[in-house]
Amino acid sequence: MLPYFPFGQQFNDKMGTFPLSENEPLIEPDGHYARETALKRQLLTELPAYYYQSLPGHKTAQWEVLEALLTNLCQFEPSQFSLRTEGNRWHWSNNRLNEHTSFTFGDAGSLPLEPLDWVGRQVQEDLILLDGPEASLVAGQLCFGNGWCLDEKIGLPFWQIHAPITPIVEPMLRSAQKLMERLPAGRPVWRLNWSVKMSDQLDMTSRHTPALDQLLTERAPSLTPETIAECLYVRIERQTLTRLPRSGAILFGIHTYQNRLSDEVSKRPDAAERLTNVFKTTPQAMLDYKGMTPFMPALLAYLTTASLVTTCPSA
Ligand code: HEM
Repeated sequence: MLPYFPFGQQFNDKMGTFPLSENEPLIEPDGHYARETALKRQLLTELPAYYYQSLPGHKTAQWEVLEALLTNLCQFEPSQFSLRTEGNRWHWSNNRLNEHTSFTFGDAGSLPLEPLDWVGRQVQEDLILLDGPEASLVAGQLCFGNGWCLDEKIGLPFWQIHAPITPIVEPMLRSAQKLMERLPAGRPVWRLNWSVKMSDQLDMTSRHTPALDQLLTERAPSLTPETIAECLYVRIERQTLTRLPRSGAILFGIHTYQNRLSDEVSKRPDAAERLTNVFKTTPQAMLDYKGMTPFMPALLAYLTTASLVTTCPSA
């Protein structure tokens, strides 16, 4: 089952951010940790310049990300991760992967990769760094992006990054832009994003868009209310925003979770009703953007039947 299920009474046209409290982790290693970090490393080996990019001049922020992530992992998963420091000499143990790394904090030559690229391979999350007055994307490791890639967005300010969806949810993005300007250090926030996909492929970066679009065009018309729940996946992003104290840059972390629709509906008694509420109130332009329009009639018909079954088992 998904750890988060951001479906309630209706489509949420607000930012939907919450403070990330001190007892909530920034990073969430889960049961897919080994498989997903291995997949990330494979992608980064095959196409390093596609999945990792950095503009010059943001090394302080990169080291801050490394520090924030390693200390967070140790704090919340002390049996799996540990960090010992002797001045600037840091000794990192990742017991889940049985890896040990020693390096000199702040010395780029002591790590085999840039700090953001190295620490990104220790976690399932995609890591994006935004900096400057307009919160521009200055560095990132993005392996599991949903329909975008670094080539398209590197160097762009927050507002331009969202250009494809600004006409659909402009007030939400105006609030988000203000949040990017005013987010204080030490007060991280998180939010959830959702979509429904015909594939459970984690890497949905733009290079896969033509193939995924083709899958949608070819398969969506044949989906019926009887078959659709086995063929669709609910894809959730847990997104965190953290202002880094020394550089003032913002770390945007994205953990992608996904599960088959039939499994969510069978295990969560109110899932069908909640999904119906949200899909029926989502603006048509947003359904189009998310690529859900081609299967929406069959999906809603399935959910109606499923909610009747869960609310009235004898019917
Ligand atoms: C509170 C902060 C944020 C809000 C409310 C927000 C909201 C959204 C929404 C509503 C979408 C449409 C996608 C969907 O709903 O499935 C979207 C897409 C996207 N967001 Fe954000 N976002 C936030 C932060 C960020 C940040 C910090 C980045 C940094 C890179 C980012 C990058 C993107 C990208 C690349 C897309 C896809 C755009 C495209 O199709 O080209 N978002 N965002």
